[in-house]
Amino acid sequence: MSKIAVLGYGVVGSGVVELFYKNKESILKKIGKDADIKYILDIRDFPDSPYRDKFTRDINDIVNDKEVTIVAECMGGATFAYDFVKACLQNGKNVSTSNKELVAKKGAELLAIAKEKNCNFFFEASVGGAIPIIRPLHKCLAANEISQIAGILNGTTNFILGKMINESMDFDAALKMAQELGYAEKDPTADVEGHDACRKICILSSLITGKHIYPDNVYTKGITDISLKDVKLAEKFGAAVKLIASVRKLENGRIIPMVMPMLVPYDNLMSRVDDVFNAVMVCGDGIDKAMFYGRGAGMLPTASAVLGDVIEQLKNEENGTDLAQSWVDCDNSEILADYKENECRMYFRVSGISEADLENAEIIDNGEEVAFVTARMSIAKSDEFAKSVELRGGSVKSKIAVLDI
Ligand code: HSE
Repeated sequence: MSKIAVLGYGVVGSGVVELFYKNKESILKKIGKDADIKYILDIRDFPDSPYRDKFTRDINDIVNDKEVTIVAECMGGATFAYDFVKACLQNGKNVSTSNKELVAKKGAELLAIAKEKNCNFFFEASVGGAIPIIRPLHKCLAANEISQIAGILNGTTNFILGKMINESMDFDAALKMAQELGYAEKDPTADVEGHDACRKICILSSLITGKHIYPDNVYTKGITDISLKDVKLAEKFGAAVKLIASVRKLENGRIIPMVMPMLVPYDNLMSRVDDVFNAVMVCGDGIDKAMFYGRGAGMLPTASAVLGDVIEQLKNEENGTDLAQSWVDCDNSEILADYKENECRMYFRVSGISEADLENAEIIDNGEEVAFVTARMSIAKSDEFAKSVELRGGSVKSKIAVLDI
């Protein structure tokens, strides 16, 4: 019988255990053999849990148990989770993780260990929660050259922006709700400052290039500067403000990954992605565009993706490492281009400048301030334009790129 260990009994880990036992009969049929959860690792006690006999505080119980072939890591963070996952892989155990921080920071190293030990480091749950995107990208879409990916990859910020757009709720109240619903990271800074979305676009970028893209090298801006005023003005321009994580491949082979709030025009399906839902749009030379949509965070949606990897592994235990789901370490300066080369239209809200000075722009005059959307230009040029507004005595209150995937 194959034995499973679950690391961490928080929102995701408890969801993995719950979903496994809820659907155990059908899961075992799909695997084609018997399997069970043998261990749950957590430093806390759960004396009333029906699974209390499975708890351990010692990772060595798992690492040294030959019966355990697959470990579901749901602890989060890149400290203890890194040590434990590394120890499991080094002992030939397969790992399925929901931990995007771990994959984005240590993916190349952990994938290399998995390859050396002929086992797998799977991470479908690390991007997009319930949405299948990792396996589709490197399997179903493998025939394509992927030119661009853009997505709403953080449920918490999408939830917050949705509350601001639809209910005029303030930022702090919406964040508190997201935390109570179990969507937000332990430290919500990672959500609202865009770091979580950055880790996810790094994972997708690494997957399509085969080279590890590190979060520290990716331009990242969160939603903390987004005001209700901009959200409402965006509506007048026929767009919704969303936190967009994207990567674009240039003709010279370099890529530009980045994370920033953007105006998503209503004719783009992503403008309608509300609540904690995520969406990922992929452009390839064979498919044109494909969009993946679903719950991007939460207990059972994320557990579904973790268990999907566990089942995949248990069904294919004889196959060894899946090399298609892999990448290698690289010097990022050799593959990244400056995000300011990216071209798009740009929304501005300015004061102290008259409409007459703004040729070729769609304009909304709001009294003291003027909001407008420029023609397409590079981000570098839009910075120059902002400076020229200031030189003419104006003041730039906000500047948000418009998505054009
Ligand atoms: N905090 C993350 C989010 C959880 O809100 O999307 C899922 O990765």
